[in-house]
Amino acid sequence: MEGFEGEPIAIALRSNGLMIHRYTARRNEPRGMFCAIGRCTDCIMVVNGRPNIRTCVEPLKAGMVVETQRGRGPQK
Ligand code: FES
Repeated sequence: MEGFEGEPIAIALRSNGLMIHRYTARRNEPRGMFCAIGRCTDCIMVVNGRPNIRTCVEPLKAGMVVETQRGRGPQK
């Protein structure tokens, strides 16, 4: 996917047609960008192996690996 370096990851994803960022832990329900100001956690994803990154406020960088988060994400 492509985006502009420095723009929020969530905006780049939306521009590429991706609306689902994570699935909830209990009911496995899809969630996507909601507040877009870093308050609700609906946009959290796994970024470069780190879970719970709020993609609506995290700037995009070249070569990032951004993955859909399931539940609490990968545990160490
Ligand atoms: S959309 Fe609410 S924290 Fe990102």
